[in-house]
Formats: sequence, structure tokens, C-alpha cells
Amino acid sequence: MRTTVGIIGGGPSGLLLSLLLDRLGIDNQVLEHRSRAHVQRRVRAGQLDHASVAFLRQSGLAGRLDRLGLPQRGMNLRWRDQTRRIDLEALSGGHSCTVYGQSALTCDLTNTLAASGRSPVYGAEDIRLSDPESEPHIITYRKDGAEHRLECRFVAGCDGAHGPARRLVNGAGGGSSRRLPFSWVGVLSETPPVSPELTYAYHPRGFALWSMRSDTVSRTYLQCGPDDQTGNWSDDRFWSEMQRRLGPDVSFSPGKVTERLMVRMQGYVADRMQLGNVVLAGDAGHTVPPSAAKGLNLAIADIRALSESFRKLLFEGRQNALAEYAQKALKRAWAGQAFSWQMTDLLHAPPSGDPFENRLKLTRLDTLLASPEQLRLFCRDYTGAEAA
Ligand code: DHB
Repeated sequence: MRTTVGIIGGGPSGLLLSLLLDRLGIDNQVLEHRSRAHVQRRVRAGQLDHASVAFLRQSGLAGRLDRLGLPQRGMNLRWRDQTRRIDLEALSGGHSCTVYGQSALTCDLTNTLAASGRSPVYGAEDIRLSDPESEPHIITYRKDGAEHRLECRFVAGCDGAHGPARRLVNGAGGGSSRRLPFSWVGVLSETPPVSPELTYAYHPRGFALWSMRSDTVSRTYLQCGPDDQTGNWSDDRFWSEMQRRLGPDVSFSPGKVTERLMVRMQGYVADRMQLGNVVLAGDAGHTVPPSAAKGLNLAIADIRALSESFRKLLFEGRQNALAEYAQKALKRAWAGQAFSWQMTDLLHAPPSGDPFENRLKLTRLDTLLASPEQLRLFCRDYTGAEAA
């Protein structure tokens, strides 16, 4: 098989890139090592920021998102057992977010791609890339017991944190990373949301987040130990801890838990997002702690810029278009990292339970919430206003 851009990874980044390149008339092929069902079921965060929604809309990919997405014009912040609604829209200069599960977006992109006659190769095992400078680039993989080869001019690594592209471009152990000393335990349940807008809570016992997927389904998260396991969290323990952290004036009656997961907290930014004919996008180039739900939004911003760079390279002969893409993507990744860390730090309790640190955090929250200037900056970052 031969193509112009070989795309490794069939998650939202790879699918979106495939669609955008297809529309530009640039031949491409997605290779995904999992099955289609697995990719569509993969549970991830579910909030799109203003810039992502605007881009998906402009690309004609927001039909279902506009019908089923849950607009978030504000958010609730709880601390000291009080709730403060932050008017995201007013404070960010007219921007907002939309809750829409990543699996729903993956389904939309898969269906649109199929309608244009393209389909990813699923179940492509043992994907191996050749030297980044090689021309053409040869990708080999195994499917249904047979060896296959894909010859391409460029490779787009959209294969996440653990795929081969990050390692090829940065070397094993390359890039900057840091793990946080806690994780989240997350639960999907048939429980009506406590509010139509997300609730983020700081409590000396730990962070809590109440998000949703519909008016009858909630997605909720609690800060827990770094190596904690879902098995340590019975339904009773989860809900009583949620109640303690949200405080007595937030009431809910927990419904059936349909899914449970652990979210590990790590920040990573690659040293390079391009080497020779190989470029990285999304989680392959950077991962952020999930507190501000920036991961998918950074990935969408990468893909938007990368498709434009391929257009400049292939139709306008701009030889350094991929290098320029990589520079800007790294800058964006560090900005997303900085905001995600700031929000994580602000809302998570020190694992040591140190009362001094707890008082510092409460004071920083008091200051943020009392300062229109700080809140404006926070809301612009949170809603992706700067990127719009
Ligand atoms: C969701 C996850 C997040 O990490 C976040 O900040 C907001 C929403 C979610 O899964 O809905």
C-alpha cells in the first residue's frame, strides 16, 4: 500500500487529521492497533472548549455536537463549603465550553470518514516505523497474522503517549515529564447532575468534580492516592466521600454505577514534535493533567494547524511548514501545561494533609475569586478564548 500521509492512531486526532487531509485532496491512511469497538468505547474526558467547538462547527463536523452537547456558560466552584458560580461567558469575553464525551466525537468522526469512503485499518498490530529521515517512509504492521507495509512520504504520529511515534521522534526517555502525587477515581453513573454546569470543589480531604453526559447521567471524579485502584472504591465509599467533599448543602441520590476508572496525573511535553518526515500531534507530543480538560482540546488545535501545514508544504512548496508547525505546537503545549498545572495545584489538597498548605490553598482561592482581573484571565484560559 502507498499513500502520502501515514497516520498512526485512530483516536480523535488521527480521524480528524484524516478527514481534513481528505478534504484537501491529500491521500492518507490511518492505522490503529486496537479494534474499532475498543476505540469508540475508550473513556476519556468530555469537555470541548470554545476554540474546539468553533473549529468543528466551521469544518461542518458539529451536527450532533450542537444537538447533544451540553453548553457550559458558567462553572461552579466550591470551597469553604460555599458555592460560587463563575460566569465563564461574561468573564472570558463571550466564550464558553461544551460537555460532549470524547467517545461521541470519535463516533461522529468515524461516521463522517466512512461516508467519504475512507476507513482506518483497525487491528494493525506491532506497528513499526522506519528511520525518520527515510524517503519513502516504510511502516510495517501485522494484521490477521499477515505482514503488511505502508509506504508514505510523511508520518503523522497521533498514537498517544504509549505509541511508537513519540519514542521515534524523542528517543526513549526524551521529553520533560512529571507525575503528580495523586490520581482521580472516576465514576459514570445513572445519577442526575447536581447542576447543569460543572462543579469543581476544593476540600482539605481532596478535589472533587461533578460533570455529566446528559440530564440523567453524571461523570464524577475524586482525588485519591497516586497508586490507588478502583477496587478500593466501593459505591458507598465513593458517594459518601463525594458528599463530604461537596458539603451538606449539595444533595443527590446516587444511581447505578455503570463504569469506574482511574485517571493518573502526569504532565509531559516532548522535546521535539517533528523529526525528518515524522510529526507528532495530540497525546503523542504532550499530556496534561486532566483538571481543565485540555488534552483533547490541545489535540484538536494541533490537528487544525497540522492539516494547514501539510497544505502549505504540498501545495505551496513551503519546505519548513512541518518544522513551523512543531515549534508552534510545542509552545501551545507548554501554555496548556502551565494552565492545567495551575488549576490542578489550586484545587487539589496536599496529600500530606499539611494544614499550612491547606490554608495557603484556601487563601489563593479567596484571592482568585475576589479578583475580577485574575478571574478574567482564568476564564479566558479555561474556555480556550486565546486560541479562538
Ligand atoms: C470532564 C473531565 C474533566 O477533566 C474536566 O475538567 C471536565 C469535564 C468530563 O469527563 O466530563
